[in-house]
Amino acid sequence: MARISLSRFLIEQQREGDALSAQLRLLIEVVARACKAISYTINKGELGGILGSLGTENVQGEVQKKLDVLSNEILLEANEWGGHLAALASEEMDTIHLIPHRYPKGEYLLVYDPIDGSSNIDVNLSVGTIFSVLEAPEGASTRDVREEDFLQPGSRQVAAGYAVYGPQTSLVLTFGKGVFGFTLDREVGSWVLTQRNIIIPEGNREFAINMSNHRHWVPQVRQYIDDRLAGREGPCGQDFNMRWTGSMVADIHRILNRGGIFLYPWDARDPARAGKLRLLYEANPLGLIIEQAGGSAIDGTQRILDIVPAGLHDRVAVVMGARDEVEAFQSYGSAENGIGRVT
Ligand code: AHG
Ligand code: MN
Ligand code: MN
Repeated sequence: MARISLSRFLIEQQREGDALSAQLRLLIEVVARACKAISYTINKGELGGILGSLGTENVQGEVQKKLDVLSNEILLEANEWGGHLAALASEEMDTIHLIPHRYPKGEYLLVYDPIDGSSNIDVNLSVGTIFSVLEAPEGASTRDVREEDFLQPGSRQVAAGYAVYGPQTSLVLTFGKGVFGFTLDREVGSWVLTQRNIIIPEGNREFAINMSNHRHWVPQVRQYIDDRLAGREGPCGQDFNMRWTGSMVADIHRILNRGGIFLYPWDARDPARAGKLRLLYEANPLGLIIEQAGGSAIDGTQRILDIVPAGLHDRVAVVMGARDEVEAFQSYGSAENGIGRVT
C-alpha cells in the first residue's frame, strides 16, 4: 500500500470539498510540525537539559516543568506568522495571545495543552500535546480578538487532535468527519497515515480513574467503581481491569484503540472546583475525538461538547470512552451532587 503522508492526506481532504479550508490545512501542518519538534526535544531527555521544573506556577497554580514552557513556546512561535490564526490560548498562558500586528491575521483560534501528563516527563513515561481549533468571530480581521471569543461550546470545534510521545510518536486528528491516526517516521521526519476512521471497540471491561481519590468521590461514582472492583462476583458479573497513566491523552489513546472508559470526576478535595481537567484544552478536543470515534463524553450529567465555557481556564468533570461503558455509568443516576458543575 502506498504510504500516505500527512501533507498528502490533508491535500486530498481539501480536494474533497468543504471539509478543509486552505488555512485549516496550513494550521494542521504547522501544529503537526511543532509536535514533531516537541517529540525530538522530549527524546533528548537529560541530554537536552529539558527535565525538571522551572520553579514558576501557571495561572492554575500548578508548578511548570521546563518542558511545559518550552513546548508552549514551540507551538506559539510555529503558529504566529502563517496567517492562519487570529489568536491562541494555552493552559500555560494566563491570557489569550493575539497574533502580532506585523503578521497577517487568519480565520481560526487555536487552543492547546502543550504537554499533558507533565508529571510523567522526568520518569520517561508517555506525555502528549492536545489541541482544539475554533473559528474566529466575524470581524476579527478588523478588531482584536477578546477572551469571550474563545468561550464557544466544544460542538463548535472545527478540528481537534493530539500527539502522544510514547514508544511511538502518534498523531490523531479529526475535522468532524471521522478520526485518523498517523505515526511519525523519525528517519524521514514525516507523519504517515496508519489508521483510517478509528472506531472505539465496545465490550472492553477496563476503566481509568485515579483510585487514590476514592474517599473523596460522590456516592454515585464510588458505587460505579465498587461494582467493577467486585468483578465476577459482583453485580456486573464480569472482571474489570484498571489502567491509569497520569496522562489523560495517553489513557484516551488507549481507549480509542482498545475500548474502556476514562473518569476524572468532581471530588471533595477542592469542592469549589468542578473537576481537575480543563474544558477548553483537554475535555473538549478529546471529547470531540471520542464522539467522532463512536464513543461518548459527558461531565457526569450532560454532554461535554454542549457546555458553554464561562472562562478560558474552566475545569470540568469528565467521563468519556466507549459508549456502552459511559451508558453503564449513567445508569447509576444523574448527579445532583456537583459532579457536573463547571467553575
Ligand atoms: P497536565 O499535565 O496538563 O497538568 O494534565 C494532567 C492531568 C491529566 O493528563 C491526567 O489524567 C491527570 O491530570 C492526572 O491527575 P492525577 O495527578 O490525579 O493522577
Ligand atoms: Mn493536561
Ligand atoms: Mn499541560
